[in-house]
Amino acid sequence: MTPTTELQKPIIKTELPGPKSREIIEADAQYVTPSYPRPDYKLVADHAQGVWITDPDENVFLDCNAGVAVCSTGHCHPEIVKALQKQVSELIHLCGTDFYYRHMPQLGKKLNEIVPIDGPTKTHFANSGAEAIETALKLAMYHTRRQKFISFFGSFHGRTLGALSLTSSKKAQRLGFMRQALDVVHIPYPNTFRHFANELPTDEATITRDVINWIEKRLFQTTTPPEEVAGIVLEVVQGEGGYVPAPKAFVKELRRICDENGIMLIVDEVQSGMGRTGKMFALDHHEGVKADIICLAKGLGSGMPIGACVARADIMDWHKGAHASTFGGNPVALTAALKTIELLENGLVENSREVGEYLETGLNRLKEKYDCIGDVRGLGMMLGVEFVTDKKSLEAAPELRDKIEYACYERGLIILGCGSNTIRWSPPLILSKENVDVALQIFDEAIAESL
Ligand SMILES: Cc1ncc(COP(=O)(O)O)c(C=O)c1O
Repeated sequence: MTPTTELQKPIIKTELPGPKSREIIEADAQYVTPSYPRPDYKLVADHAQGVWITDPDENVFLDCNAGVAVCSTGHCHPEIVKALQKQVSELIHLCGTDFYYRHMPQLGKKLNEIVPIDGPTKTHFANSGAEAIETALKLAMYHTRRQKFISFFGSFHGRTLGALSLTSSKKAQRLGFMRQALDVVHIPYPNTFRHFANELPTDEATITRDVINWIEKRLFQTTTPPEEVAGIVLEVVQGEGGYVPAPKAFVKELRRICDENGIMLIVDEVQSGMGRTGKMFALDHHEGVKADIICLAKGLGSGMPIGACVARADIMDWHKGAHASTFGGNPVALTAALKTIELLENGLVENSREVGEYLETGLNRLKEKYDCIGDVRGLGMMLGVEFVTDKKSLEAAPELRDKIEYACYERGLIILGCGSNTIRWSPPLILSKENVDVALQIFDEAIAESL
């Protein structure tokens, strides 16, 4: 199941970044857009295998980020590589919007079997998470003949104009783009570690009540009549906003509100889907709650660009020509997705649950050891560690978080921040307990050095 290499620990041979990496970083600064939100540390990849990334200077890093939750099966999984090699020798492109090939109905059928949506589904294929979201927004508007959406503070759904109207995890994403394309109202996310009213910990019942009241007693009675709302867009585990899982009661209540008002429940599983949370989808942790529309991307294609919007078949009732994409559902990307799902079902979802739990236990041990870890949370291999100045004040510590992130890099561990002061763990789902031991030791040293 797990493509291993003999390697046990990162190997850092040069100063970081090394001389060959620096050349690439300099060329990048000259020719590539400065808008990418890269972290303080600079990792240049030359090649990668399993959980190990090698840079051009032959430094080897342990990857606990997976290209931002994308390389679900690890880097260059041999079975993915083999399937792709075969596919590129047979058919690279034909444009599924105008012609047919077997991969589209095959993946559509597979998604129909596994997504948490009641009844038959249909799928629209795209190239990215943002495109899958655009599809969901257009579909919800078309189907309901309504125009308003409800989204959450801290959410991230992409940077294309429709998706950007929903996105709100950082000011930089909106700054300079003035008015938004869509009519979206934002509400607080049900974060039990930081109640929106006072930034302090609360319990699931309280935060559920307060956010649900916000919707029903405030929004619906004032700015946002429910009969004008096309959809509520939810990350069941908020990703870029800080790896925050929503309480079960909250998700159930949201479903009730959608049912009572003819609103589409659009679940964004772009980051949380495809085994990341220890179940195939984050919504699978919420028994009995189903979505109307689900958006997928990231881990779906093991690194090949793919997005998918899966909806109840009766909702996907739009006319010919209403929405399509030249590259969306390209046979090479679909081959990667079909093989990825096979690998997930044959052990990687289970590994995500089991090794994720082991990682979470280790992170909780560090929480006991360090006053600067305020919260450890998440599901499976989607775990967040929130840094604070001290456990008494629980004041956010974004600079400390950045320092720790950098110190990990210097020791050969790749992790990435999310939210203002959280470190996310989103490793390849092939990560082993031995890898976790190594990663936790580095994380421990990095925290100690950064204080
Ligand atoms: C939850 C979620 N939705 C949508 C997106 C946008 O995906 P993409 O960057 O592929 O457009 C992301 C990307 O981080 C995401 O995390």
